Order: sequence, then structure tokens, then C-alpha cells
Amino acid sequence: MAAIVSQPILAGLTRSAVFLVVTLRPEAQHRQTVRALCADLAGLLRSVGFRDLDGRLSCILAFGDAAWERLFGAPKPADLHPFRAIEGKHRAVSTPGDLLFHIRAERMDLCFELTAQILARLGEAVTSAEEVHGFRYFDQRDLLGFVDGTENPVDQEALDSAIVGAEDADFAGGSYVIVQKYLHDLKGWESLPVEQQERIVGRHKLSNVELDDAAKPSYAHNVLTVIEENGEELSIVRDNMPFGDASKSEFGTYFIGYARQPRRIERMLENMFVGNPPGNYDRLLDFSRAVTGTLFFAPSATFLAALPDEDGDAQGAAAGPVATTVS
Ligand code: HEM
Repeated sequence: MAAIVSQPILAGLTRSAVFLVVTLRPEAQHRQTVRALCADLAGLLRSVGFRDLDGRLSCILAFGDAAWERLFGAPKPADLHPFRAIEGKHRAVSTPGDLLFHIRAERMDLCFELTAQILARLGEAVTSAEEVHGFRYFDQRDLLGFVDGTENPVDQEALDSAIVGAEDADFAGGSYVIVQKYLHDLKGWESLPVEQQERIVGRHKLSNVELDDAAKPSYAHNVLTVIEENGEELSIVRDNMPFGDASKSEFGTYFIGYARQPRRIERMLENMFVGNPPGNYDRLLDFSRAVTGTLFFAPSATFLAALPDEDGDAQGAAAGPVATTVS
């Protein structure tokens, strides 16, 4: 089998990120605008990224269920569907989104420039766009004050967790992505004693060391989000970033999770929102409200590069600087 190149899903956390979710206008002529952008994205990325080679600029492009059908038709990735809202003690809302651009770099100016170029290319094709600017907060902390990302899988385990393999051969090298924008009630959170915050997260705040199993409640975030199948842990790759607007008292975490099956992330969300067992829910949610929720599929760079344009010619490559090759 020829090598398939994934988009740079495993590029890792950077200092800055832009999460751009756009909704497309329904008219037929916009289809080609988007397909042409798929082909030109790699060139745009080079144009912006080459201006600072240490900037580690990368971009992942992913498609929602309806957009996939409209842009590419059949076949469709086996598990692609709209994000299903979850009703539990708290609510995980489902919100619209056709395209997701996950843009990462060591400098916000690189992310911003690429975002502006992408939106200029999409032009009239877009009806609405949400752009969240994420930043690194000290030692990879979220705005609740905890280090976020420690237990992310690395190397082969990250590949096995996030990248579709032979189980859906047409879409090998791709990845399912769920994003959720969370807003925190920081006043409420900060009124809790640190020991209670630590029980909710399941780690010590200052040292970032995991709580002993005996000290961890069954509702701890790192108990409810550890899931297994046939005795084996099923991981995902997370790249959450803090964002905010202090003048509006907006303090948030942008959750982004990549997985080879969306079911992994959905099971974690059910445990968090409904509880495991039901009622034993994630207390982080008493202080963090999900205001968006959307599911996308990021096809391999090879898939994007092989997309024929309306004349039937294959288009350019769309990988980033740290793309992954799967065979
Ligand atoms: C308000 C939003 C969230 C915040 C602030 C948050 C924060 C954290 C923190 C501080 C940790 C511990 C350190 C680490 O291993 O990363 C963690 C772990 C984790 N989180 Fe979240 N998280 C959020 C939402 C989610 C969501 C929505 C999911 C999945 C659907 C998730 C899945 C995980 C997983 C799998 C771990 C690792 C557990 C382990 O193996 O120990 N998180 N999160």
C-alpha cells in the first residue's frame, strides 16, 4: 500500500493557536471555492510559515458531516455524523460548523495572518465564522490553574489513538475531531478550597502530580475520562488552549480532541455530562459551560492533494510541516 500522509495532527502544543469554525453558504458555486482552497492551503501555509521557520506554523482542515456530503459526496468516512448533544446534569450543546481550521504556531501573528488569508480566499462562501484565539498560559495551565495535557499519548501511541487505520481503508490517515468552547465561572471556582479543586481534577495543582488512587473521588476528571475497551485504555489526542477577554469577564478553555473513532470522545463526554454511573458527573462542569460542540473529520493530506478540481485534474498537496506518514 502506498504511504499515506496525515495532516499534522500530532504537531503538538504551541504558544498560540487559532480555532476557526466556518459555516458555508448553500449556493452551488461556493463548492469550487472551498475545493480550490483545499488545494491551495499548502501553498498559503508555505507563504506565511516560511517567513519564520522557527514559528512552527501548521494548519489542519476538517469537515463537518453536511459539508462532507456537499463537497465530496460518497464515500464518506464511516463514523462521520453531526455532533450529538448530550443531556445530563449539564448539557453538551451541538452547534453548526462546516469547516474547522486548527492553526498552531509559536507566534500569534503567524496564526492570524494565515487565518486572514484563508478567510479572504473563502470570501462570499462563508455565512458565519467563529474565531477563537488560544494562548499558552504559563506552564501549559488552563485558566482554572491546572496543567492541561500531561497525559496525552505520544509517538506510536498517539498515532494509534488519533489516526484512522485499515478499519476504514478509504480514509486511513484521517482523524475525527471534536471541538467545544467552554466558559469558566472563575469566581465560583476560586471560591473552592484548592484541595477540592484537586479532587475535581484528580491532580495536585502546583506540582501537577496525580492524586493517589485512594484520594481520587470517582467523579474526578481523570477518572471519568479514562475509558477502556476489552481491558485496554482508549486514548485521544488533546490540544486544549486557554482563551479569554478579561474586560468581559470571559475566561475559557477551547477543547479539541482527535481520535480514530469519535466514539472514544463521545464516551468520555457521556461520563462527564451524564456521569458514570449516571449522576456521578464531572464537577468541572459546575464551573465550565460548553457553549459550542461540533464534530469534524480531518482527511489525510494525501486525500486533499488527490482531489480533482472541476476539470478533473488532481490538485496540490495540503500537508503541514510536521505531517505524519502512515502506511
Ligand atoms: C473545561 C474543559 C476542560 C478542562 C479545563 C480540562 C482540563 C484537564 C486537566 C487539567 C487534565 C489533567 C492533565 C492532563 O492529563 O491533561 C485533563 C485530563 C484529561 N482530560 Fe480534560 N479538560 C477539559 C475537558 C475535557 C473533555 C471535554 C475531554 C474529553 C471529552 C477531556 C479529556 C481528558 C482526558 C482523556 C484526560 C487525561 C486523563 C488521564 O489519562 O489521566 N477533557 N483535563
